[in-house]
Amino acid sequence: MFPRGFAWGAATAAYQIEGGWQADGKGPSIWDTFCHEEGRVFQEQDGDVACNSYELWEKDLECIRQLGLTHYRLSLSWARLLPDGTTRHLNQKGVQYYNKVIDDLLACDVSPMVTLYHFDLPQALQDQGGWKSAGVATIFDSYAKFCFQTFGDRVKLWITINEPSVCAKLGHEDGVHAPGLKEQGTAAYLVGHNMLRAHAMAWHSYNSLFRPKQKGAVSLAINSDWLEPLHPGCEEDDAATGRDLAFTLGWFAWPLFVTGDYPEIMRSAIDSQSEKLGYTGSSRLPRFSKDEPAILGTADFFALNYYTSRKVKAGGGRGQMCMKSDRDAEEVLDPSWYICGVSWLAVVPGGLRKLLKYIKDTFNNPAVYITENGFSQVGPVQIEDVQRCKLFKDTFLEVAKAIGEDGVDVRGYFAWSLLDNFEWADGFSVRFGLFHVDFSDAELRRTVYRSGREYGEIIIKHKRATDVQRLKIYTTLINKQRLHSCFV
Ligand code: BGC
Repeated sequence: MFPRGFAWGAATAAYQIEGGWQADGKGPSIWDTFCHEEGRVFQEQDGDVACNSYELWEKDLECIRQLGLTHYRLSLSWARLLPDGTTRHLNQKGVQYYNKVIDDLLACDVSPMVTLYHFDLPQALQDQGGWKSAGVATIFDSYAKFCFQTFGDRVKLWITINEPSVCAKLGHEDGVHAPGLKEQGTAAYLVGHNMLRAHAMAWHSYNSLFRPKQKGAVSLAINSDWLEPLHPGCEEDDAATGRDLAFTLGWFAWPLFVTGDYPEIMRSAIDSQSEKLGYTGSSRLPRFSKDEPAILGTADFFALNYYTSRKVKAGGGRGQMCMKSDRDAEEVLDPSWYICGVSWLAVVPGGLRKLLKYIKDTFNNPAVYITENGFSQVGPVQIEDVQRCKLFKDTFLEVAKAIGEDGVDVRGYFAWSLLDNFEWADGFSVRFGLFHVDFSDAELRRTVYRSGREYGEIIIKHKRATDVQRLKIYTTLINKQRLHSCFV
């Protein structure tokens, strides 16, 4: 059952919606550079204009109001605020833009959750080594302090970095995200490490300089699939699943919530692979220095991005120096799972419930915000997206069970995404929005999908309901599902 005060939200990210890539003194980011290189993105598309939210913010606000969201998660474009990434040069127009967004949200009784970094590093910092350079952490900390100082009187929920593992792996090992590096087996670990250092510095800055007055909460958004053994009880599959979970969720959650360091399983898998390959340098997984701010305890809540699940079996290590070999686990899909739009998105709402329970049990029952979850469409647009309506409802039911039956302290849910937008390397071919955006229309018209409309109805119902009514909604949902399963 969803508690009173539950955050009903939707999320977006600056590069995916804003456009205005050169407007009013914004500096270039690594995604500007990446998209402008040939062959990087589907049909050479880019986020130069995207949903043009830089100019059309008020249209987005109408969408937010139409749904009745209580919360809206947005990210700040670092290079729009600080064109070269440093506080030496400030772009006042960027500050004005985000001030307006935040003030407008609050005026409509919508609480902002603000992400400082969602994949778009200022290019000027990439030119100095980007996330691979140790110095980036202190530069990020200065940027974070600037944002806390400028917006923190009104923003109470902060995410420092979105999905560090995606930035690290897709951007620096697989090369399919900006900055497009393919340095297998080392760079991703280094990038993840510097992201954790940057996050921890920013959290400590908030904690000592801003929290006493601003009283907000800061976390890091971790993406994770739910993983379970292909053949439960088979020793190899169980071990492979444990390893895979350590490389997925554990990589960032362990340092923040458990030990202040990476999971031991992860380090030993990497080190033993290094040994097998005759790699003689120091561990490819860096170590945290005792002289720097501690990592443990630097998340005020658990921010989870969940999309999908996988079954895991042993294998996948191909004797190469790369993350896939290090984790030595092969992920497969269950044939019964519905694939939604893109090939990686097997819809498994039950996996979310299991993951939430795992988080509760493993990380000492933290407050959890589901900071992203959603379903995509490809091909001909369906405004009446009946299937996606069902997927959202199935998911809400699983979240309700996680809260009501498993006792997980889930505080909110943010659908990805408010709008159809620039879906990274897939360009505009994949649509995750609750609102359709007509990218062929000069006005970039936004039209609510049926799933958006129904999400809005659910929100209104819950916002208005008394506790007794809420319980009734929940039991009806459960009974409906039982009835449904009798007939399947
Ligand atoms: C990212 C979003 C992205 C979504 C769907 C998440 O990993 O944070 O930026 O659009 O997944 O792929």
